[in-house]
Amino acid sequence: VYFVETADFLRDLERFPQRCYVVDENVWRLYADSCLRDLDRTRVIIQPVNEELKNLTSVQKLYDHLIERSAKRNMTLISIGGGIVQDITGFVVSTLYRGINWVYVPTTLLAQADSCIGSKTSLNYKGFKNLIGTFYPPSEIFIYTPFLTTLADMDFLSGLGEVVKLHILGGAAKIQEGITLLPRMVKREPAALLQGVQSSLAIKHAYIAEDEFDLGRRNLLNYGHCFGHALEATSDFEIPHGQAVVLGMILANRVARRRGVLSKSFERLMLEQLLLPSLKVRPKPSHLKASAVVEAMKKDKKRTGKDLPLVMMKEDYGLVKVNDVTKSEVERALAEAGEVPNARPPVR
Ligand SMILES: NC(=O)c1ccc[n+]([C@@H]2O[C@H](COP(=O)([O-])OP(=O)(O)OC[C@H]3O[C@@H](n4cnc5c(N)ncnc54)[C@H](O)[C@@H]3O)[C@@H](O)[C@H]2O)c1
Ligand SMILES: [Zn+2]
Repeated sequence: VYFVETADFLRDLERFPQRCYVVDENVWRLYADSCLRDLDRTRVIIQPVNEELKNLTSVQKLYDHLIERSAKRNMTLISIGGGIVQDITGFVVSTLYRGINWVYVPTTLLAQADSCIGSKTSLNYKGFKNLIGTFYPPSEIFIYTPFLTTLADMDFLSGLGEVVKLHILGGAAKIQEGITLLPRMVKREPAALLQGVQSSLAIKHAYIAEDEFDLGRRNLLNYGHCFGHALEATSDFEIPHGQAVVLGMILANRVARRRGVLSKSFERLMLEQLLLPSLKVRPKPSHLKASAVVEAMKKDKKRTGKDLPLVMMKEDYGLVKVNDVTKSEVERALAEAGEVPNARPPVR
């Protein structure tokens, strides 16, 4: 992973003779005349972006484009965009000719701070999110944080939720760092963005280094996601992913406190200093309906037992994954305040 201060790295990529760029349509619109202006236009494929396009049809279209350009295994694909472009192109590069060289330039906060490492590529299938995919890492990742200044608020906030989650997973010192960084990140101060992305990746790296294929410790990265995925579903994806994760952490902490794993004072500290300041989306009562949330949680890909899985934060800054959360624990966590306290109205 290279952190770069200028867009000159794009010129270095000309060292790959058989290269092709796949660029997020919005990134292209915003940057074609500035930092992407020197890309050889004949090698650029513009990728339309929305969650519905993260499927095999988009993958096939790209196969066709690429095969037309160069029927060669020694091709390098350079992806420039957020998580959607990462997932579609990641699947393409991992399967075309059984794998071609891949360079990734993430342009969203979520992709820079979180998804660009970890090697996962995912497609949606038959209405299920991220149901099919592969493990395939880019050979090089270039992080240029000035891209983050043009993100829409909702897309920025979605990434921010993951940044907060990773700082919590980083333990006491990173939690403190996160608390001071958060207000500066919200203002998108350049130095804060860089620091937030760098720390987040370092923390994630520590979790995946020994668990590349997602079998053990990496499960803990799912903190906030057990409830979070469910709330994405119950809100019909109105709540963006990272914001759902923040809500998920709040709810997981409630379950942990009731189980005596987390003290009331620690829960409050996390809530007031990190979780509420990064939460800008207010869920509607229908999104928090217990029966719907429980049904959605039952569909968790990682669920193995009869009860529900949950990653919980512990008093000593550690995390633990359990598989025995009951329906009534979920109901109690959701019912606690009826609604998340002090949640501010949506930004747009
Ligand atoms: N592979 C993984 O490990 C992994 C991990 C987490 C999430 N994901 C996936 O990532 C996707 C979400 O990714 P995301 O949050 O990066 O959002 P995204 O890719 O959906 O992009 C969000 C929006 O921002 C636009 N955009 C991208 N860069 C921009 C920029 N610099 N300035 C202005 N607009 C820009 C995009 O065109 C899009 O409209 C989901 O499909 C999710 O499942 C994958
Ligand atoms: Zn996530």
